[in-house]
Amino acid sequence: MRLERQVAIITGGANGIGYAAVERFAQEGARIILADYDKSTGAKAAEELREQGHDVTFVQVDVADRDSVKNMVTQAVDIYGGIDILVNNAGITRDAMLAKMEMADFQRVLDVNLTGVFNCTQSVLPHLIEKGKGKIINTSSVSGVYGNVGQTNYAASKAAVVGMTKSWAKELGRKGINVNAVAPGFTLTAMVEKMPDKIIDQMKSIVALQRLAVPQDIANAYLFLASSESDYVHGHVLHVDGGIMM
Ligand code: CAA
Ligand code: NAI
Repeated sequence: MRLERQVAIITGGANGIGYAAVERFAQEGARIILADYDKSTGAKAAEELREQGHDVTFVQVDVADRDSVKNMVTQAVDIYGGIDILVNNAGITRDAMLAKMEMADFQRVLDVNLTGVFNCTQSVLPHLIEKGKGKIINTSSVSGVYGNVGQTNYAASKAAVVGMTKSWAKELGRKGINVNAVAPGFTLTAMVEKMPDKIIDQMKSIVALQRLAVPQDIANAYLFLASSESDYVHGHVLHVDGGIMM
């Protein structure tokens, strides 16, 4: 058990990569707050995992809303007595070419993918400091490092996540808190599956391994960064992209 009795908040835990992480962390003995905007899927997923003997609690949250995030953290502490791990996984896309991008779509992507990560980390931080240890794992993207056609808003938010990760690593190392990010490549979740086949084929063609990631590929990287195996890995952006970035 690599996370025995560790308390982990996983945002965006109802679907895709976040759900794979909830499953993986549960198998390793973590107690989990599955935090998501999507109430029906999230509550059902938590219930099913509890029936399998895992300790998973669903909390509805909009990471872009500070009050909602504070409520998530209060619930986590009330239920589990503290927090050890935060996985800032929730994220959205609203793709459009620069010339056509609506301001509302630019703003919402930044609100969720950038401000949401700030909100969650700032709210959880006092509880990690209290313990004198902790793990913060952020989610960037190949788009945030390389850029991507149609993703002005998303790429900006994911590049910002890298900047925050490195700043927090410098601030929080002396408090015993590890901060790292994972930069997934194209991963088979709803986010990618809604793309036209032509674009998915284009995505595949730039991957050295010649396949897209499955959510478990990314969940395994989160697990490494959440476990004590990565205690000396700090301020790192782990590319899990089948060799797009080399
Ligand atoms: N590379 C180069 N050129 C591209 C391109 C690409 N990847 N994608 C589109 N273009 C070109 C088109 O060929 C077209 O060129 P012409 O004007 O010369 O014909 C021009 O850009 C406009 O493209 P569209 O006709 O498709 O424009 P649209 O307004 O109908 O749609 C779009 C724009 C919504 C951005 C659409 O192109 C699209 O969905 N693209 C995919 C965006 C993408 O890759 N998203 C990643 C989702 S997965 C994810 O985000 C997870 C992660 O972290 C990686
Ligand atoms: P997904 O769309 O399958 O799941 C995202 C989850 O986040 C959903 O459950 C959704 O309800 C939740 N969510 C969205 N907005 C929220 C909000 N405001 N508050 C709380 N929860 C919210 O997406 P996927 O693919 O699993 O993405 C997970 C993370 O990985 C995201 O940060 C994404 O940007 C990132 N990523 C995904 C890649 C991919 O190819 N799928 C590639 C690189 C990064």
